Amino acid sequence: MFKRIPGTKDILPDEVSRWQALESAARSVFALYNFAEIRPPLIEEAALFNRSLGTTTEIVQKQMFLIPHQEDTYALRPEGTASIVRAYIENNLDKKAGITKVFYIGPMFRRERPQKGRLRQFHHIGCEVIGGTAPELDAEVIALARHLLDVFGVSGYRLLINSLGCADDKKNLAEFLRQELSAHLKNLCEDCATRFNTNVLRILDCKQEQCKAVVNGLDMGRSHRCDACNGHFNAVKESLDALGVPYEVAPRLVRGLDYYTRTVFEMTHADLGAQDAIGAGGRYDKLVVELGGADAGAIGFAFGVERVLMACSEREPSGRRDSVFVAALGDAAKKETVRLMSVLRSNGIACDTDYQGRSLKGAMRLADDQRARWVAIIGDNELEKKSIMLKDLESGEQREIPAADCVREILARAHEKGS
Ligand code: HAM
Repeated sequence: MFKRIPGTKDILPDEVSRWQALESAARSVFALYNFAEIRPPLIEEAALFNRSLGTTTEIVQKQMFLIPHQEDTYALRPEGTASIVRAYIENNLDKKAGITKVFYIGPMFRRERPQKGRLRQFHHIGCEVIGGTAPELDAEVIALARHLLDVFGVSGYRLLINSLGCADDKKNLAEFLRQELSAHLKNLCEDCATRFNTNVLRILDCKQEQCKAVVNGLDMGRSHRCDACNGHFNAVKESLDALGVPYEVAPRLVRGLDYYTRTVFEMTHADLGAQDAIGAGGRYDKLVVELGGADAGAIGFAFGVERVLMACSEREPSGRRDSVFVAALGDAAKKETVRLMSVLRSNGIACDTDYQGRSLKGAMRLADDQRARWVAIIGDNELEKKSIMLKDLESGEQREIPAADCVREILARAHEKGS
């Protein structure tokens, strides 16, 4: 017996409607903001991620699924941003007028230790805006994230924002942290002791209690940001205020990827336990240049779909579908069933039947399981009279109607309900 790999999931037919609902809500909201879909490959050169995310990040050091290929190494994509910037440069999207606004929906792969909310194959609904540095864009992208969570039905989350500042500001912050933390090295966890030398900013968001205690004791009051970056952050906050988007400034919020500059943000939900980020993002103004493109500011975010679904209140599928279950009594009726189903389907009406010789009672039970609204019963009597017995499972009403009227009757009733 084969089993799925730990940290992967089968999204079964019973669950898939929740995924489809989320994806289709996302597509509608992205369209309101003039975003178009992009579908880059799931496999890229590993070097793309090393270069974009940073060689000292956890993802690059420990979490990529690597595939040796001749002289190269390929990687299953651990995230979407690097691929999209690569696609933006390679396909000359920067030559198109205006700003590039794209969204993506699909699987990402990280070789993590699986736990609640942390998978090896998980899914992102994300977006990227490339070609602008205006603070209004940051506010619009954050407002878009909030709009998506509203239509997904997620409430009770926190929106945390911070500004890392430009590359020089990040160096200042790293220097400040090294100075402040050098006296506390022995109190940090093993990983953070390494991070002290390789990626000191990451110590700020270590989840270990001993490191949190050290970090909470730091005086982060003095800004490490230059005037221009302070001005940008203030303008983002003003713009969010004008849009009525509630946020909390979190001076210790840094992100696990090196490409971020200036605005970073994260949405967290208390119901999710240790892995509480349902989505996150930020500005990455130097990545396009870093990967060989023009100097183009950019910002984006991604939601973890599995975590969003955990944070949504579970909604039972409501009501019946406008579909027909055809119950045939006897062999002659079975032939008529095939014909009737073909007519129904070519008129856009979904239908199904029983192929396992159930009794009428069993067929009714199956129709109910399928949440069909109608059962069309065909027996010898109906065959003789060229009629069908149509039962509306919603109202309980049952009527014999001419077989030729079946499509019209069902469409009329479905329309009545819809109007
Ligand atoms: P990230 O924070 O690494 O950012 O991932 C975004 C979201 O994906 C997380 O907040 C979380 O909900 C979900 N996620 C991450 N790892 C896992 C996992 N192992 N299992 C389940 N869910 C997970 C990025 O990937 C950036 N590319 C976001 C971005 C787009 N920044 C700018 N543009």
